[in-house]
Amino acid sequence: MKGIKGKIITITSTKGGVGKTITTLNLAGIYSNLNYKVLVIDLDLYSGAVATHLNSNNDKTIFNLAEDLANNRYEKVEDYIFNYDDKISIIAAPKDPRMANKIDIKYIPLILNNVVYKYDVILIDTSHILNEINITAIDNSDMILYIFTNDTFDLKNTRSFISIMNDAENKNYYTLLNESVHPDKKYYSLYEIRSLIKNNIDFNLPSTMYIKNIDKYILEGKVLIQNKNLTINKMAYEKLTNMANTLIGKGDKND
Ligand SMILES: Nc1ncnc2c1ncn2[C@@H]1O[C@H](COP(=O)(O)OP(=O)(O)OP(=O)(O)O)[C@@H](O)[C@H]1O
Ligand SMILES: [Mg+2]
Repeated sequence: MKGIKGKIITITSTKGGVGKTITTLNLAGIYSNLNYKVLVIDLDLYSGAVATHLNSNNDKTIFNLAEDLANNRYEKVEDYIFNYDDKISIIAAPKDPRMANKIDIKYIPLILNNVVYKYDVILIDTSHILNEINITAIDNSDMILYIFTNDTFDLKNTRSFISIMNDAENKNYYTLLNESVHPDKKYYSLYEIRSLIKNNIDFNLPSTMYIKNIDKYILEGKVLIQNKNLTINKMAYEKLTNMANTLIGKGDKND
């Protein structure tokens, strides 16, 4: 038991496939390399991919955790955690999406309370739907990383997301423009994007961070940033490290 409260960071978006899961896991890799203990919670309840990405052989998921809490069968949170290595652990999403419907969201803050003193950083991966689950995650996080792409619809929805956050007087968010997912999509300039979303772009993963044959590396079941078979250029590594530090309140934004 560490005894110091960890930072809870939710990674979210309003469009699917913008790189939330890969960014979440790369951040986990960076925090681990910085010697922090990290827990990744997969709150993409209907189509979670964290366990698959890490070739986890967990039998318990967040569904069992919530169910056991509800039925007084819960003993300790470790029973539901898969340790990827000695620095990175996960709580997996349900294996069957039908179980996702059965999870009572009121247990999510309770689950977070049970882990927040045991890890330095808790990363919550989410779906792109601003539903009760994501709102609960956002409300219970110290920081939100909102990811979007250079795409007309995505930018429109990003603007709405930002205005929702502003209406709720929630200033604890950073925006990340991910150009590494669709490197050829560069229709809007950074200047135009800023005016379209009416906000700053806090971080940017450039198109040079596009990984050819990414599926080959994903299938290896390792955090990409830590995969020795993959050459991550120094600039990309520094960008991710800078973002990781900023998200936990260390270091400056540099973009
Ligand atoms: N740096 C990259 N280089 C190449 N392809 C990438 C990169 N990052 C992401 N992708 C591609 O984009 C896909 C979506 O990434 P990811 O699963 O992280 O997005 P997501 O936002 O979590 O998606 P979902 O909304 O479905 O959960 C990946 O499977 C991969 O094919
Ligand atoms: Mg995902």
